Amino acid sequence: MLGQLLHNAGIDAVILERQSGDYVLGRIRAGILEQVTADLIDEAGIGARMHAEGLPHDGFELLVAGRRHRVDLRTLTGGASVLVYGQTELTRDLMQARAIAGLKTVYQASDVAIGDFAGTRPFVTWRKDGRQHRLDCDFIAGCDGYHGVCRASIPEGAAQHFEKVYPFGWLGLLSETPPVSDELIYVNNERGFALCSMRSRTRSRYYLQVPLTDHVEAWSDDAFWAELRRRLDDEGRESLVTGPSIEKSIAPLRSFVAEPLRFGRLFLAGDAGHIVPPTGAKGLNLAATDVKYLSSALIEFYSGGSESGIDHYSERCLRRIWRAERFSWWFTNLMHRFPEEGPLAAKLQQAELDYLLHSDAGLRTIAENYVGLPLDFDGQRRT
Ligand code: PHB
Repeated sequence: MLGQLLHNAGIDAVILERQSGDYVLGRIRAGILEQVTADLIDEAGIGARMHAEGLPHDGFELLVAGRRHRVDLRTLTGGASVLVYGQTELTRDLMQARAIAGLKTVYQASDVAIGDFAGTRPFVTWRKDGRQHRLDCDFIAGCDGYHGVCRASIPEGAAQHFEKVYPFGWLGLLSETPPVSDELIYVNNERGFALCSMRSRTRSRYYLQVPLTDHVEAWSDDAFWAELRRRLDDEGRESLVTGPSIEKSIAPLRSFVAEPLRFGRLFLAGDAGHIVPPTGAKGLNLAATDVKYLSSALIEFYSGGSESGIDHYSERCLRRIWRAERFSWWFTNLMHRFPEEGPLAAKLQQAELDYLLHSDAGLRTIAENYVGLPLDFDGQRRT
């Protein structure tokens, strides 16, 4: 996305990717776009397929203690909604636009290293097909994920890390079956959290809260479907269509923020700088807004020489990031089972749900955070 936004402004960028293009297109990621993200995709000029194939969602369901409660996003937020469009499809659209424009992406780049980003002449080195390469550049955008080399290259002590690892994971299953419902269902069940999501009208994505000690190989498709059934209500059990999995994996849940996100001429964006647990579907949306702020800052730099956007990049991103971190942490705590926290915590969770689900203010708080903040929020009330 950053490459596309910069290209549209006449700024050159080279993308280094450790994996092959096919590998990238086989990775299953989340699929909920906030309005702000969909607008950015339009601004980047690659929104045609998203509009044709994306599914607008005006609400979702919370299934708590066997009862469904609808969160009507549109009504509760005064008109906002979200779009279901898989991150993998968005990546495909971006890769295609890049190929058509003849822009450079190096796939299967190994041993990537970055240097001199504290000064004014940063460089990147990598190996490809047995040869060593070097690129001298003005800036480095570390969009290389939680395990990438960029954050790891920042000197010890120059950044502060905030982290929490949750005591469970999400077992995800993708199948070529119609979704159990037109809208997403977030389930708080005594057996654990579940989520019914989708990628299209014929492709479903489901998740189950599982212990971190579980191995994906031990979960047959039949065992997955049986456990999902147990966590659904009668209506869900009746409508659920099962089928073979296309993909099945366990993802750990983590809250993480690195501060600051800029070190000299290196900028961290997306998972390289912060991780949210997936419960609010904020990961992709936060990465997109980082990249919006970063592209604006770089465009400002190249067009007028002002470093103001660059200087404010970290602060601008972090305010939005912490608000999404808070919501994702809170929504995770609200919807999962935490047996190790004891019966008092479980009772308090029940009481909190009871309040939220029977209060307009409570439901609005969920809805407002779910649809996301406007890009230039000022901390004032929405009107
Ligand atoms: C997904 O469809 O993968 C998905 C949807 C909503 C979430 C998390 C994941 O909150």
